[in-house]
Amino acid sequence: MRAAVYPGSFDPITYGHVDIIERASRIFDKLIVAVVTNPAKKPLFSMEERMDMIRESVKHLKNVEVDGFDGLLVNYLREKKIEVVIRGMRAITDFDYEFQMALTNRKLNKNVEIVFLLSDSKYLYLTSRMVKEIASFGGCIRGMVPPHVEEMLLKKFRVSSSGSL
Ligand code: PNS
Repeated sequence: MRAAVYPGSFDPITYGHVDIIERASRIFDKLIVAVVTNPAKKPLFSMEERMDMIRESVKHLKNVEVDGFDGLLVNYLREKKIEVVIRGMRAITDFDYEFQMALTNRKLNKNVEIVFLLSDSKYLYLTSRMVKEIASFGGCIRGMVPPHVEEMLLKKFRVSSSGSL
């Protein structure tokens, strides 16, 4: 059985992520989408909210599980007995960061293989950060994230602008 882990912040999941998950789910027998508590980033959504949004987005894919972890990715991989990591590569701007992360992970565990997948070209520009920024200023994010994620973003920014968050 060939299994892989797709780790990320997913704050929130976008159609670009969904596209990568669909591609990976066709290549591997089992795919775990693993939401990471990244201490370097202050997420807009809680771990549970991010995991729920992913679950709803990938419910059509029967071989995809959603999980979460904190700490090192290599430790999580060891715990799951999985050695393949999926990452999406968008443009050359992603390369430095991905290259550094891939080699760091391999340094920590030489058996880890990182598989880079390309999303459909219509999602190559898409980032969670941009989506959040657009939503925070009331811009249109239709077609960038699934409808339930759009709903969550609207709710989050409506609440925060009314001062209750
Ligand atoms: O979606 P992101 O924020 O680009 O994902 C980055 C992520 C979460 C995959 C990366 O930061 C990570 O693996 N964090 C876990 C901590 C870790 O293992 N760090 C050392 C290797 S870079």
